[in-house]
Amino acid sequence: MATHRELFDLTGRLAIVTGAGGALGHAVSIGLAEAGADLALFDITDTGLEHTRRAVAALGRQCVAVLCNVGVEDDVDRAFTVVDETVGRVDILVNNAATAVERHRPEAFPLDAWERALRVDLTGYFLCARAAGRRMIAQGDGGSVVNVSSIAGATGLGRGNFAYSVAKGGINQLTRELAIEWAGHGIRVNAILPAQFRNAGWAAVETDPSPASSSLLQRITDGIPLGRLGEPREIVGPVVFLAADASSMVTGALLPVDGGNLALNAGGSVRWPDEPT
Ligand SMILES: NC(=O)c1ccc[n+]([C@@H]2O[C@H](COP(=O)([O-])OP(=O)(O)OC[C@H]3O[C@@H](n4cnc5c(N)ncnc54)[C@H](O)[C@@H]3O)[C@@H](O)[C@H]2O)c1
Repeated sequence: MATHRELFDLTGRLAIVTGAGGALGHAVSIGLAEAGADLALFDITDTGLEHTRRAVAALGRQCVAVLCNVGVEDDVDRAFTVVDETVGRVDILVNNAATAVERHRPEAFPLDAWERALRVDLTGYFLCARAAGRRMIAQGDGGSVVNVSSIAGATGLGRGNFAYSVAKGGINQLTRELAIEWAGHGIRVNAILPAQFRNAGWAAVETDPSPASSSLLQRITDGIPLGRLGEPREIVGPVVFLAADASSMVTGALLPVDGGNLALNAGGSVRWPDEPT
């Protein structure tokens, strides 16, 4: 029987992380490398990508960084061909890249903004999963796909965020459908649903002294029983768990990584009425 350490060991496996230059992509890439995986990193810009590539290489893992727009089929095909020609296998895919989505009232939402959002945040996940799945099926020894969804795929956000929420809801169904379709190949497909995690955007809100920003942060932390935003490193454990043999009987699951947000009813509170707010 495998030891506890072996269950989480990714030595000899190749993991692709999309959006690897961003806050969560950077943390996940390092976490997977620390667990022993070699990495292929995809991002649309090279600013963060090179930073992540260096950090992974410093851990002694093989690492290839590829510029790729995950919403463009030819780009995804080209990036996977680079992986074929360098590392030569795919065991793990972490679908994580997401674009900044415009916010509008639904009745005024421009079609091109809607299509841009779904193209990257949903179609991009499908294109990368399809490319990884083809390779995992051909290799014949299973694999793991981890889709970074959001609590916004399970509940509504309001305030014009609905194209983002619809994409994330689609990712949840993509996760379930692929889990069923590929179970016979031993390919597991799961999603994590983070609440708000500190990235460049949230860091800017936190340092903005305006009442609008502080009231937004207050509302968010009031809705998270653990009472704070997530830190990027806190995404690593759930992703490594789902990537590794530790979760060998887990597929089609949507795992909240949300400090309890989805457990909290609108009338619920972590505080009793006689406790100070
Ligand atoms: N941070 C949060 O509060 C939060 C909450 C829930 C879910 N998520 C999800 O986590 C994932 C990562 O978010 P993050 O906070 O690290 O964001 P981030 O903005 O820090 O990183 C996103 C990365 O994706 C890249 N990217 C954007 N469009 C791309 C494209 N077309 N092709 C390839 N790469 C592209 C960006 O260049 C960036 O490096 C996203 O799927 C996001 O929806 C984040």
